[in-house]
Amino acid sequence: MSRKKYMVGNWKMNQVTSEIKDFFSNFDASKYNCSAWVAPQFIHIPLVQELGGNSLGVGSQNCSHQESGAFTGDISPKSLKDINAGFTLIGHSERRAIFKEANELLNEKTKLALECGLEVIFCVGETLEEREQGKTEAVVESQLAEGLKGINSDKIIIAYEPVWAIGTGKTATPLQAEEVHKFIRNYLSSKMNYNSDDLSILYGGSVKPSNVAELLSQSNIDGGLVGGASLKASDFTALCEAAST
Ligand code: PGA
Repeated sequence: MSRKKYMVGNWKMNQVTSEIKDFFSNFDASKYNCSAWVAPQFIHIPLVQELGGNSLGVGSQNCSHQESGAFTGDISPKSLKDINAGFTLIGHSERRAIFKEANELLNEKTKLALECGLEVIFCVGETLEEREQGKTEAVVESQLAEGLKGINSDKIIIAYEPVWAIGTGKTATPLQAEEVHKFIRNYLSSKMNYNSDDLSILYGGSVKPSNVAELLSQSNIDGGLVGGASLKASDFTALCEAAST
């Protein structure tokens, strides 16, 4: 896959049926020239596929590290593929922090999701404390080295999401984001054999209509992974428009 522009909505644990219907009466993915994707809660994937139409990419926010078996409450990537989900997020900072998902487990999940035929948006990012201690690159490097160990696939998209910018209203400046995106592209191409021209790297953390254009104008930023601003059709429309120009 060569680099292209993405706008990915991470709906997290939000939205009920009526809100989803309302969203799609005001949002039409076929109008945009970017890859417009949404990751709703698992149970809403079929509804979002139905209402979103063929132009919308629909995926999940997480998946199991196992294909089947006694894993009560888990969702298999095989089952996701079976219902035509296209992708999954893996390693979102909320999974890492709240559910204690470590790089080793994320590596297993990523391998299995790819084997099952899903594209993977692999998320990395540092905490505020780590940034203040000058450890941003070291943290991101170990998340990539351990999380993607033994994996080289053109079905991987990276999302750089500084933890301190998620849901806080604080966005990394376009320059701060660009520096880390450049580091990620260089690291994956020089140390892990990825083709840097094919690798898409998305920025996440308080992306909104007012800051998206400047972020997307950076040469190593290929799109956004968006929480809060993806829940409102008018905001997500503005974000997809920005990614289409
Ligand atoms: P936010 O979330 O846009 O609400 O900051 C981004 C994310 O967590 O993916």
